[in-house]
Amino acid sequence: MSEKSILIAFFSRPGENYVGNSIVNLPVGNTEVAAKKIQMLTGGELFRIATHAYPDDYTRCTEVAKVELEGNKRPVLTQKVDNMEAFDTILLGYPNWWGTMPMAVFSFLEQYDFSGKRIAPFCTHEGSGLGSSAKDIFKLCPGAEVLSGCALPGHSVANSDNTLRAWLQHINIGSSGKSVPGHVNGRYSELNNSRLL
Ligand SMILES: Cc1cc2nc3c(=O)[nH]c(=O)nc-3n(C[C@H](O)[C@H](O)[C@H](O)COP(=O)(O)O)c2cc1C
Repeated sequence: MSEKSILIAFFSRPGENYVGNSIVNLPVGNTEVAAKKIQMLTGGELFRIATHAYPDDYTRCTEVAKVELEGNKRPVLTQKVDNMEAFDTILLGYPNWWGTMPMAVFSFLEQYDFSGKRIAPFCTHEGSGLGSSAKDIFKLCPGAEVLSGCALPGHSVANSDNTLRAWLQHINIGSSGKSVPGHVNGRYSELNNSRLL
């Protein structure tokens, strides 16, 4: 059997955001910063979960996101992973929006069959941590193994290398770009809910 690889799939929105108690204009989204660090640490392949543009204005964006969440919408994605079968480990990144993932990440998770794959979530936030996102991933991908998530405060993402390294070590992800079969720590289950590092 050929060696399977690591995919780092992330959603991130540059522009006005709420970071460390004030509104700032981010040229690169916080989750994208984390995803690129993870790429350096793991050698995995980066993939952007892309959909329609959200308002640049922070408050307007929260309103649009709330309508999508309350309507249980599935925004149409504009990019596809053509070779999902090549990956068995998905490091899934997103900002916490209203206590869970942006609905585009729900679209992404419903678009592929993740049975037999491992999904390890990493999330940037301003106080809510992973919220209910790990539980939502667990429900959307019943055949996947959901690993311990990593929650990073968005305002400290630039200094998150050690936290990310410790998380990757905890879930047994190396730096070869290939997944390591066998032992993993911190499986998600309904009982322990999301075990954070
Ligand atoms: C629409 C929207 C909703 C948000 N909801 C939450 C939330 O419920 N809890 C929280 O801690 N942070 C929330 N935030 C803050 C983001 O999670 C945080 O700024 C994150 O780091 C942004 O990542 P990004 O730059 O990759 O998009 C929200 C931000 C936006 C734009």
